[in-house]
Amino acid sequence: MQALLAINRLETAALRVSLWNGMDQMKKQWLMVAAAAAVFSVNVAAADGKAVYEKACKTCHEIGLAGAPVNQDKEQWAPRLQKGMDALVASVNNGLNAMPSKGACFDCSDEDFKAAIEYMVGK
Ligand code: HEC
Repeated sequence: MQALLAINRLETAALRVSLWNGMDQMKKQWLMVAAAAAVFSVNVAAADGKAVYEKACKTCHEIGLAGAPVNQDKEQWAPRLQKGMDALVASVNNGLNAMPSKGACFDCSDEDFKAAIEYMVGK
């Protein structure tokens, strides 16, 4: 029984290798690109401040709705930045006056908020 199982596994492995070798170059390249893209998109989701901003913060921070500091306006952001990044992330999590808790982005992480703030304050 054990031996049969082992042979079975060997055959499966051999089949995989021969499948890979039997693939034409195009298919292999496509698979590589697909694998690379999968890894890449995870990285983007983790820390793309601009993407978080556009998805969750833009509605208010683009035009300064209800006194929101305006995107890329360094003067408006300067006094806020003096509180420190941790305090700003906490403000988003807790909400602040007209800003709803978590900026209404409930699947956003602290990292997402931090990235979005870094994007909004301008370079
Ligand atoms: C519904 C409108 C709205 C949305 C959506 C919103 N904000 Fe705000 N935000 C505000 C307003 C209004 C203020 C100013 C609050 C005040 O100081 O009275 C503010 C202030 C802030 C501040 C300064 C906090 C402080 O302590 O001074 C940060 C940082 C911030 N927002 C980040 C974000 C981020 C990041 C997002 C997106 C995830 C977001 N906001 C989404 C309305 C919004």
